[in-house]
Order: sequence, then structure tokens, then C-alpha cells
Amino acid sequence: MGVRKDTAGAGAAMGRDATGMGGTGLQPLGRPELQSQGPRVRRMPEAAQVEMGKEKVDKVDRVGEQTERGGKGMGRGMGQGKGIEDVEEELVIEKSNVLCLGPTGVGKTLMVRTLAKILDVPFSMSDCTPFTMAGYIGEDVDMAVHRLLIAANYDVRKAESGIICLDEFDKIAKPKSMHGVKDISGEGVQQALLKIIEGTNLTITTKERKNPPSSIPPGLPNSPAPGSFNHTGGKGNESIMIDTSNILFIFTGAFIGLDKIITDRLASGSMGFNAHVRDSSGLSSDPTLLSKSGLSSSITGAKKLGPLELAEPADLISFGIIPEMVGRIPVTTSVEALTEEMLVRVLTEPRNAILRQYEQLFKLSGVELKFTTAALREVAKSALGMGTGARGLRTVVERLLGDAMFESPGTSIKHILITSSVAKRLEAPLYFSRGQGFKFQELYEAEEYATNSASPKFGKPNGPGDGTAGNYEEPQKLQAVGFA
Ligand SMILES: Nc1ncnc2c1ncn2[C@@H]1O[C@H](COP(=O)(O)OP(=O)(O)OP(=O)(O)O)[C@@H](O)[C@H]1O
Ligand SMILES: [Mg+2]
Repeated sequence: MGVRKDTAGAGAAMGRDATGMGGTGLQPLGRPELQSQGPRVRRMPEAAQVEMGKEKVDKVDRVGEQTERGGKGMGRGMGQGKGIEDVEEELVIEKSNVLCLGPTGVGKTLMVRTLAKILDVPFSMSDCTPFTMAGYIGEDVDMAVHRLLIAANYDVRKAESGIICLDEFDKIAKPKSMHGVKDISGEGVQQALLKIIEGTNLTITTKERKNPPSSIPPGLPNSPAPGSFNHTGGKGNESIMIDTSNILFIFTGAFIGLDKIITDRLASGSMGFNAHVRDSSGLSSDPTLLSKSGLSSSITGAKKLGPLELAEPADLISFGIIPEMVGRIPVTTSVEALTEEMLVRVLTEPRNAILRQYEQLFKLSGVELKFTTAALREVAKSALGMGTGARGLRTVVERLLGDAMFESPGTSIKHILITSSVAKRLEAPLYFSRGQGFKFQELYEAEEYATNSASPKFGKPNGPGDGTAGNYEEPQKLQAVGFA
């Protein structure tokens, strides 16, 4: 007996706790001597375990507030890798694949990428859209594992504890209307994925590489890990055997229409003679729905629940995911749509925030670009209206600054101000030449002042779920202070 060294799970670095089960401990199963001694699990100090797991998730949360629950879900899935690494051979804790649902452009893909970076494990991301069943034109599902192998620089050991993100997972849902037709890109792909995500020995054939794997297992100085790869010889091809049982799979997708399936299911339960009568004002505040979903307000606190958070396996099956697949993804987590407040933060706060990018772009031509707070809110509001999440921000900013980018370089324009009325497209961006720096600053501050006095809370998040815009009275206030 001994610690299994060869099965470091994908989330080993996550270090949530030794069992990966949130410190609840596990009931010993199987052999009596194990039962008497309890599970042979090498434990880390409790506090440290939980802190480490939380810390990892907290880092991801910085991407945006709405990612909190999504991050926790993924943290849960990844935390179990620790169990796989530390538990003795008798007790094998398996990984829990994760499904992350959420509207488009809210940062699902970004969150998974960030997690993989933090965890420092090989990571590959594949789109599900080009996948087809083996033998048909398109990409084989094995390609996802192949990409992971490339990310691990063909180090099979490392790749076996990596993370594979299958993006746009909802696009391989089984269409409802295809009866009697072989579905090679939907159901066929899901079936092909079954074995891989559960754990199988997959043989990947690759062209012979120039660089051999960087880390060769100790004790075998010049030879590959046993069973890990072998040369078929002759044609310059190489077959690599990889075990996928400890690779963590994260599925992400917008699942458009799933919310309707969920609300229909919940609503159908509220009809009939014994049903509670509820108003149509909203799903979130309905205690009937909360209790139906197995949650109570005391558990969820003051947080409102969106429909996607109440997703159940039956809903995913109705959406077109085959039951065998649903059963293999035990952790489902969702990401909420971004509110106006959050969009303002996405616009300004990240290291490579869109606003900073444009400021830098103008700076290269010696032009100073400034947005007032009210203008930022207007941009966020327009992006929200587009329904494409944070992606809409770039479209809005691009539209606003398109002309300025063309007109200002190489001219006497030295400052550009975007006020709320510019952001509303009521007027063109305000240009100022070298000598007008003071006026530029004054106008900027006047609008900031007007904004702050109109809405003292301005600029601070209004709280979860509150996407209301502030009180916009800038034009009037500007007139009052002698501008505009
Ligand atoms: N919470 C966020 N914090 C910072 N940037 C974000 C956030 N959400 C989205 N973005 C920005 O929006 C872009 C799109 O996000 P991402 O690709 O993660 O969306 P998605 O949820 O995967 O959408 P889709 O379902 O359409 O694939 C990112 O590149 C990032 O710049
Ligand atoms: Mg995505």
C-alpha cells in the first residue's frame, strides 16, 4: 500500500482538502480492516485545506462578481483531484466533471482559462462545433485529448492530470426534429465522448516529434513511461497511449432555451388543484419554486436564483443532452448575466480592459482619451441592450470612437472627451487642441460633479441583481454650471 503517485488529479494544485469532499469525511467502504481504521487519507490541516480551495476560487472571482458561484462549482470539481492524489489504493475518489451554464459573453470561457492558469496544469480548450463521429468529415473527439497532450508538451503523465474544456457544448445537443436520421454531429458526438470523459485508454497517433517529452519519470532515465507511448516505426508516426480517467472535463455553453425548459417544468408543477398560486412577477422570489428545487431561502440567503441555477438532469435531457452524458457530469454550475454595474467594471477594471486598450491606442498618436463616468454607464447600457454580454462593450466603444480614430492621428487634436451625450450618440466626440487642455479637464470634471451630485451612489456597485442605471441629468446640470 502506498500513496498513489501516478494519479495526480487535475485539481491537485487546488488543494481543497484531502478528500476533496469539503472536509466532511468519507464513510469507509469495503474491507473490514479499513473500516476499523477509517479511510487511509493523508490529511492536510483542515483550515489550510479550505483556505487554499477558497483562495483559488477567490482569485477567479476577481474576473467579475457574477462568476462567484460558477467559480465555486468549478472549484468543487477540481478540488476532488486532491483526493485522487492523496488517497491510498483502496479508496479511489473519482473526479467530478463540471458543466458551466450561462448566457453568452458573461465570461465562462474566460473563467475556465483563468482557473487553468492558476492551477498550473496542462489545459486545452476545444470547440464542440467541429466534432463529428469518427469516420466522417470533421474533427474526431480524440482531438481534444490530442490538444491536451500538445499543451503538456507530450508529457503523458502531466497530460493525464490536465483539464480539457469542451466549449459550446450545447451545440452538440440532439436536435428534436431528427427522427430516423443518423445525427453525426450531435448525438453521435455525445456518444463518442462518453468513454473519453469517463476514463479510457486512448491511443493517439501523432507525427514523430522533434522534441521528446521534457520530463521523463524518475528511475527511467532514458526511456518513456511504461505503456505511455511506443513507436509504431516505419512511417514516422507515433502512437501514444493516454489514460483519461483523471483528466477533468469542463463543459461550457450558453444553453439558449434551457431557461424556458426549466421555467416550464417549474410552472407545470404549480398548476392543478393542489398547487400554490403565485404571481407572475418573477421566478426568483417564489418560495414554491425554491422549495421545489430543494433550496430554501435560509440556505440561499438573500441571493436571488436565476432559472439556470435550478437546472436538473431532466432539463438537460429535454434540451438534447443524452442521459448517459448527463450522468457523467455531476457538477452543474451557472453564471448569471452581467448587469450594467458589472459591465462598467469589465470596461474599466481588468488589466487589459477595453477602455485601457483604446486609451493606449490613442496615446500612440499623442492623443489623450477620456470617458466620463456617465459616458461609461451609457456604454454599458447600450452593451446590455445588445444582449451579447461583455462582448457588446467593444462593439459600442468601436462605434463611438471609429471616426475619432480615423480623424485625430496626425492633426492638432490632443484630447478627446466622451461625455454621456456623446455616448448616447447625440453629438460627436469632443475634440480639444493642445492649448485647450484646461477646458477639456474642466468639462470632464463638470460632468463628473454633475453625475456625483445626481447620484451619490454612482460608481459603486448597487448590489447583486440591481442593474438599474443612475439618474442621468448631466445635460441640465451642465447648463446649470455654465457649460453646454
Ligand atoms: N466577468 C468578466 N470579467 C472580465 N471580462 C469579461 C467578463 N465576462 C466577459 N468578459 C470579456 O468578454 C469576453 C467574452 O467572454 P467569454 O468568451 O468568456 O464569454 P462566454 O461566456 O464564454 O460566451 P459564449 O457562451 O458566447 O462562448 C472575454 O474575452 C472578456 O474580455
Ligand atoms: Mg465561450
